Order: sequence, then C-alpha cells, then structure tokens
Amino acid sequence: MNAGVPPILSVRNLSVRFGGPENILTALDQVSLDLREGEFLLAAGSNGSGKTLLMRCIAGLLKAQEGEILLRGSPRVGIVFQDAEAQILGETVEEDAAFGPKNLGLSREETERRVEAALEAVGLGEKRKGSPRRLSGGEKRRLAVAGVLAMGCDIIIMDEPFANLDWPGVVQVLEILRSLKQAEKSLIVLTHELEKVLALADRLLILHRGLVRDNGNPAAVLDRLDPAWGVRDPRRNYHSVGDCSWLDES
Ligand SMILES: Nc1ncnc2c1ncn2[C@@H]1O[C@H](COP(=O)(O)OP(=O)(O)OP(=O)(O)O)[C@@H](O)[C@H]1O
Ligand SMILES: [Mg+2]
Repeated sequence: MNAGVPPILSVRNLSVRFGGPENILTALDQVSLDLREGEFLLAAGSNGSGKTLLMRCIAGLLKAQEGEILLRGSPRVGIVFQDAEAQILGETVEEDAAFGPKNLGLSREETERRVEAALEAVGLGEKRKGSPRRLSGGEKRRLAVAGVLAMGCDIIIMDEPFANLDWPGVVQVLEILRSLKQAEKSLIVLTHELEKVLALADRLLILHRGLVRDNGNPAAVLDRLDPAWGVRDPRRNYHSVGDCSWLDES
C-alpha cells in the first residue's frame, strides 16, 4: 500500500462553520486525514457528523474557512453522491456515462470504448439506450459509478453508497467496490452503515460532531469505540431471531 510514499490526498486542519457569532455551528472541526494510493478508507459517523461536508470540501464544491486539501500528482477525483438522481446528466444511460469523458476532451472512439467498458463493469450494458431516470435507485447509483469509471478517476469517494438499496443492490455496490480495490484505486466511503463494508476497509475513521475521534486499523478502532460517537460496533453475531435487534438488551 505504498506506506513510504506521500499520501495521494491529505486533508489538513479543515474547519467549516455555519451561522453567526451567536449561533455558530462548527460542522467540521480541524479535520485531518491522509489517503494513500490504493488505500480504502472507511469514514463512519452518525447523521450530521460532517461526512457529506467533508466530501464536498474534498470535491472542491465547498470552501472551508480553514485548512487545506493537498492532492499529489494531479489525481482525478470522482464523486458518487448519496442522491444519484441529482447526478443524472444525460438523456440515455450511455449519454450519461459519456458526460465525464467527453468533458475531458477525449475522442469519440475513446469515449465510446470507455463508456461501454464502464457500463459493462456495473452491469448496465443492456440498459444503455434507456432513460437514466427510469432506472431503479440501485441502478442509478451504479450509473453514477460508471461515470466515474469512464473518466478514469484515481480517487473515488462515495457518500452513503448503500442508502436505499436492498440486499442485492448492496451486494452489487460491494462488488464494484471490491473490483475498484483490486484495480488499486484510492477509495473513501462515507457511511453510517459500516457493517456492510468493513471487511473491505484498510482503515476506519470515526467522525462525530465534526471531529475526527479515531482513525486507524478497523479492529483496533472498534475495540476502543465510544458509544457516545453514535457508531455501533457491528461485530455482533446473530444466531437466532431473538438476537436480531439493534436494541442492546432485547
Ligand atoms: N448549508 C448549511 N448551513 C447550515 N448547516 C449546515 C449546512 N450544511 C450542513 N450543515 C450542518 O452540518 C452538519 C454536518 O452535515 P453533513 O451533511 O455533513 O452530515 P452527514 O454526516 O453527511 O449526515 P447524514 O448521515 O445525515 O448524511 C449538520 O449538522 C448539518 O445540519
Ligand atoms: Mg450525508
């Protein structure tokens, strides 16, 4: 995982505040993190912990009041938003996936080649002529991933990639994540559903109320998890129906 080389992405002391002097909300508070090439960072945090804001800052969509974001070697950063609907740009599935590579100024042939490969990779090859708006929620998310693949992004960031997906949909997204990991892409997944993806993560970061509370080896971070951070240790076995509850004492 290239431990010796500088990180491909560094976030340094990032702070984002909202409101005025009387009702100030520090939504991100001196957040720092490193992402190494080929690394899979899982950033977990409860609702409102600052995950989406952090992603928006890294994507350059939001300017933080303090701190900096350093990218090494001009990597291409691809973002998959939680709301895949908002990311739809084309009239057909293939047009949508072609939007990114076209914007990069690639030739028509190269764009077509990449779009075909990307749609095939996410299992949408057969729907290429259809309308993206008529895709299911899971298919829309896979289309957003295809767009990022077609652009040849080096860093891929996904915000709540499992939101609103059923079990097969979650499995499809996980398979994509696994193949991105195998292709040695640098990945950040921001989610509160860590139980779905923990096995793929190289590192686990816990965000709570805008602060990085922990960041390290996933098992070690879970061992020292503070329940007050609103993240649940998923290493619990369900053996019977009676165990299947998120209430601690069922
Ligand atoms: N434009 C804004 N104005 C004021 N407060 C904001 C704004 N955008 C975000 N916030 C606040 O910043 C905090 C972090 O929001 P963010 O969307 O990053 O949370 P999140 O971790 O992505 O939550 P979720 O799991 O619900 O998606 C929240 O308390 C939110 O209300
Ligand atoms: Mg969010």
